[in-house]
Amino acid sequence: MPSYDLVIIGTGPGGYVCAIRAAQLGLKVAVVEKQPTLGGTCLNIGCMPSKALLYASEMFEEAGHSFAKMGITVAAPKLDLPAMMAFKQQGIDGNTKGVEFLMKKNKIDVIHGKGKLLGAGKVEVAGADGKSQTVEAKNIVIATGSDVARLKGIEIDEKRIVSSTGALSLDKVPEKLIVVGAGVIGLELGSVWRRLGAQVTVVEFLDRILPGMDGEVVKQFQRILEKQGFVFKLGAKVTSIDSSAAKLKVQVEAAAGGNPEALEADVVLVAIGRVPYTSGLGLTEAGVALDERGRIKIDGHFASSVKGIYAIGDVVRGPMLAHKAEDEGVAVAEILAGKAGHVNYDVIPGVVYTTPEVSSVGKTEEELKEAGVAYTVGKFPFTANGRSKVNQTTDGFVKILADAKTDRVLGVHIVGREAGEMIHEAAVLMEFGGSAEDLARTCHAHPTRSEAVKEAALAVGKRAIHM
Ligand code: FAD
Ligand code: NAI
Repeated sequence: MPSYDLVIIGTGPGGYVCAIRAAQLGLKVAVVEKQPTLGGTCLNIGCMPSKALLYASEMFEEAGHSFAKMGITVAAPKLDLPAMMAFKQQGIDGNTKGVEFLMKKNKIDVIHGKGKLLGAGKVEVAGADGKSQTVEAKNIVIATGSDVARLKGIEIDEKRIVSSTGALSLDKVPEKLIVVGAGVIGLELGSVWRRLGAQVTVVEFLDRILPGMDGEVVKQFQRILEKQGFVFKLGAKVTSIDSSAAKLKVQVEAAAGGNPEALEADVVLVAIGRVPYTSGLGLTEAGVALDERGRIKIDGHFASSVKGIYAIGDVVRGPMLAHKAEDEGVAVAEILAGKAGHVNYDVIPGVVYTTPEVSSVGKTEEELKEAGVAYTVGKFPFTANGRSKVNQTTDGFVKILADAKTDRVLGVHIVGREAGEMIHEAAVLMEFGGSAEDLARTCHAHPTRSEAVKEAALAVGKRAIHM
């Protein structure tokens, strides 16, 4: 029976990064993956394909709506959807092959098949050919990720009623798209299909979009999306979908019940969150405890209730983000190699890759209020940023929240083009416990959009220059 220091179940960003770090530290490692390609949700049906379509659809929209004002005259762009999907697939293939290469480079064994725990120290792998093998492991890391959350009574067929997976591969642009859930997936994939020509209506249970993000930032973001053509039905829920006719009939009512309304759609995207994926892992038989939300329960060192079995990524508590899974993968590999692996959950950036983007790190204003922390706010709009003005992309602003007594930066929130790139100087600053003054006194290249971050830091001390 093959024997390893570490066997990892799942090769998403949590699993494959954990494998590489463990191999770097001298452990003998194998990964088990039930899909034919490596890279998990993120590389195959998540982060990467969605970003390819966001990029391509943004270029399509720019060519149709922004080129003329810059003096570039082109014929109205035509959509070749199969070619756009091929562009997406090339991106997926490039990345999944890259992970395969990294496995080889780091001498990590890849075992294809569905992994199941046979207690601590043993994993059974059932191959697609019906054959099973058992491998021995001093330690096991479960990195099986998450799956789509479903709406009761509504069956996802991935053709007309789709999850994010189907929404990444539609074979034509729906005339009317209804998105259930105004979270990250709904707004990103809603943006893709709106740019390509769909009328998009988003039905959201809560009375706001993007729950968990800073309320002021999100309010402005919602207005921008509405200007782009998004229609929001907030405080509402979908109760049923009739798919018997050519058009779907979607019954919507107030979240609290009442005010029923029937909407028509060609496609409905269900994007109401994701759930930990633990099916068929043999967790109960192995004695691995779950928490109240079905996630694998872990301690501060990623250890489950069974000695020698660890878990990371979407299958455990915390935000369901690829970079969080990666950092946990590195941390647990380091712990297993006798080092001090650690993840700082207070500084995990979040980005919504729409146009404009929304990014955030640290506490929101609502969270500080609730915790009774005294804070100061510095804000700076992109309308006052020189680079944004010349590019005529002035939507949005930067908001910095700092401790009122110590000036330590507690949260940074940005809505604006390239917000997803700009957030990282705030993340580094916060990792070092930096203050708004530190940020404000750091020289920023001119002309950049990042100068708005510096100006927002100056605004914390009421001394922004260009406002
Ligand atoms: P996963 O990536 O889900 O990987 C788990 C792997 O385990 C899979 O390959 C699965 O096949 C395998 N597996 C499961 N059970 C078994 C078993 N029993 N045996 C063998 N293999 C098994 N996050 C971001 O940070 N940025 C983004 O832009 C972003 N965009 C997203 C867009 C979409 C449409 C979706 C759906 C998600 C997006 N996410 C994004 C979230 C991100 O994909 C996840 O947070 C991330 O993939 C979690 O990584 P993971 O390693 O925990 O699990
Ligand atoms: P989400 O948790 O971001 O949003 C789900 C939304 O659906 C919420 O606003 C919620 O209030 C709403 N909702 C729940 N039940 C509902 C109902 N019955 N009717 C109407 N609305 C309802 O989940 P989403 O968008 O599905 O994404 C899943 C995960 O994937 C997220 O945790 C996210 O972190 C990750 N992801 C990250 C991305 C990024 O980092 N850019 C991109 C896409 C996904």
